[in-house]
Amino acid sequence: MSFKEKINPARLPQHIAVIMDGNGRWAKQKGKLRVFGHQNGVLAVRDTVEAAAELGIKFLTLYAFSTENWNRPKFEVNALMQLLISTIRKETKTLTDNDIRLQAIGDIDSLPTGCKRELKEAIDLTSGNKRMTLVLALSYSSKWEILNAVKRIAGEVAEKRISISDIDESLFNSFLCTANFPDPELLIRTSGEQRISNFLLWQIAYSELYFTNKLWPDFRREDLYEAILDYQSRERRFGKTSEQIVS
Ligand code: IPE
Ligand code: IPE
Ligand code: MG
Repeated sequence: MSFKEKINPARLPQHIAVIMDGNGRWAKQKGKLRVFGHQNGVLAVRDTVEAAAELGIKFLTLYAFSTENWNRPKFEVNALMQLLISTIRKETKTLTDNDIRLQAIGDIDSLPTGCKRELKEAIDLTSGNKRMTLVLALSYSSKWEILNAVKRIAGEVAEKRISISDIDESLFNSFLCTANFPDPELLIRTSGEQRISNFLLWQIAYSELYFTNKLWPDFRREDLYEAILDYQSRERRFGKTSEQIVS
C-alpha cells in the first residue's frame, strides 16, 4: 500500500505549516549558487500545494521568508524577491484552477513595491476560492507578530475600547496575523534542522512537530503523505492522560 492509501481521510490535519529549509545546501551539493536552490524549491512548493489540496487539507502555511532573512547578502534577498514576483505571477492561474485561495502573513508592508502589488493582485483574484487556503509567511517572524499584537492591544486599552479583563486567548488570537486560521495541528521542517526559527510560536503550542532530512527542493507529495501518516500515528493528549483520550 502506498503512503497515500494508508492515510485516514477522517483524521486529516486541517492546517499544516511548513518550514521550507535547505535550498542553499541543496544547491551547494550540486556545485551551484544558493539561488539555484531557491528556484528549484518552487517545484517542491507546487507539488506540495497540489497534493495538500487534493487530500482535503484546508490550510497550508509555508514559511517562505523570515524577518531574519533580510540579513542575508543583498544579492540573495533580491533574487528571492524576484522569484516571489515571478512565481506568484505564474502560479495564480494554477491556484484558481485548483480552487485555492492565497493569503499572506507577516510584515507585508516591508516587501518591495512590485512584490506587494503582485501579492495583492493574486490575493484578490483568488479570494473566492474555497478548497484550500494557502498562506505565505513573508517577512514574517513570530516575535514581530506577537509584539505587534501587544502594541495594538495596548492601544485599544489606552483608548478604553477594551479592558484588561477582556484579554484572553481568543482576544489575543484575534490580534495575530493568523486570526482567521485555525492553529496548525502539524508542523513540518525539512533539511534536518530541529528548530522553529521564529515561526508561529503561539500557534504551535500544541502542534505535532515533524522533522525530515530531505532538503526542501527534493520534497515531494510522497514526503507530505509520509508526514501526515506519522502525524496520524501519534496520540494527542493536550495535557490529559492516555486513558482519558482512549475513552
Ligand atoms: C530555505 O532555504 C529558504 C529560505 C530561508 C528563504 P535556505 O536558503 O535557508 O537553505 P539552507 O538552510 O541555507 O540550506
Ligand atoms: C527559516 O529558515 C526561514 C524560512 C524557511 C523562510 P532559515 O534557514 O532562515 O533558518 P535558520 O536561520 O537556519 O534557523
Ligand atoms: Mg536555512
